Amino acid sequence: MRQHKLALCKQHFLEWVCDQTERNINKYKLFTKEDSVLVAVSGGKDSLALWDVLNKLGYKTTGLYINLGITGEDNYSNKSQLLTEKFALKNELTLHIVNIKSEYGKNIPEFSETNKRGKTKPCSVCGLVKRHIMNEIASKLDYAVLVTGHNLDDEAAVLFNNVISWQVDFLRRQAPFIPAKKGLLPKAKPFCRFYERETAAYVILANIEYIEEECPFSIGSTTIQNKQLLNELEHERAGSKLAFYLKFLKAKNELFPDLKENKYVDKLVVCQTCGQPTPKPGDCTFCRMINRSDLK
Ligand code: AMP
Ligand code: FES
Ligand code: ZN
Repeated sequence: MRQHKLALCKQHFLEWVCDQTERNINKYKLFTKEDSVLVAVSGGKDSLALWDVLNKLGYKTTGLYINLGITGEDNYSNKSQLLTEKFALKNELTLHIVNIKSEYGKNIPEFSETNKRGKTKPCSVCGLVKRHIMNEIASKLDYAVLVTGHNLDDEAAVLFNNVISWQVDFLRRQAPFIPAKKGLLPKAKPFCRFYERETAAYVILANIEYIEEECPFSIGSTTIQNKQLLNELEHERAGSKLAFYLKFLKAKNELFPDLKENKYVDKLVVCQTCGQPTPKPGDCTFCRMINRSDLK
C-alpha cells in the first residue's frame, strides 16, 4: 500500500482492516457496541466487506438489501441479492429485503421512463429510491444508525464533483457521520478512509463472494470519470486521494463556521403521505414519483 508506505501479509492485512475500521468508528463517533446498526448491503465488495468487519468486531448488525429490478446481461439485481443472502446465511445474520417492483409496482428502469417531467436518468431515480427506503426501514424498525459501504474513492469522487461545480450546500453536508435530524436517522460511513483497492483486497482475502459487475447504468457516469482522474493523480502522487478527502474534512469548520446550525435540515417538514422528512409541504419527491394514491 504505497499510500500508507505499508506492506502486509494476508493475516495482518485482514487484522489491519478491522483495526482501522474500529479506529474510524471511534474517531468520528459513529456508533457503539450497544447500538443496533442497519447495514445497507448491495452485494458489492464494499458493503459486504463492511458487514463482515462489523460482525467480526462484535457490533450488533442487521442487513438491508434493496432489489432495484435492474437486469442487464447478468441479471444485476437478482444476482447481487443472491450473493447478499448467501453471505447472511453463512454468517447467521438477519437480512431485510425490499423488492421495489413488488412493493411499489415498478423497477428502476420503469420509474426512470415514467417520471412526470419526462425521462429521468436511472441513477438519479435510484439514489432517491435507495435513500427513501433506507431511512424508512431504519426508522420503522427502530435502528440507531444506518451505515453504508462508501469508500474513499466514492467520497473523493463526490468531493471532486462538488468542488468543480461549487455545490456549497453539498460540500457542507459531506461527512463520515450525518447526525439525526427531524425524522432522518443518523448515517455513518465507517469505510470512508479505505481505498477501493483495499476493500477489494479484503473480500478476496476473506473469501467473500461478491458481485463483480458494475451496475449497467453506471457505465460512463461522471462518478466513474472522476474516479479515473483521481486515480491518475494517485498514480503520480501516492496518498493524494486520501489527503484530498482528509484535508477537506479538516478545512470544513473553517469553510463553514455556521455548520453547527445545520440550517438546511432544520427547514424540513413531514411528507403528508409517508411521514418522512421533506423540504417542502405536501408530498415528498419519492411519494410524488410513485404517485402512491394510484397504488391504493
Ligand atoms: P452506491 O450508491 O451504489 O455507490 O453504493 C453506496 C452504498 O450504498 C453501498 O456501499 C451500500 O452500502 C449502499 N447500497 C447501494 N445499493 C444498495 C442496495 N441495492 N441495497 C442496499 N444498499 C445499497
Ligand atoms: Fe442504481 Fe445503478 S445501482 S442505477
Ligand atoms: Zn413521502
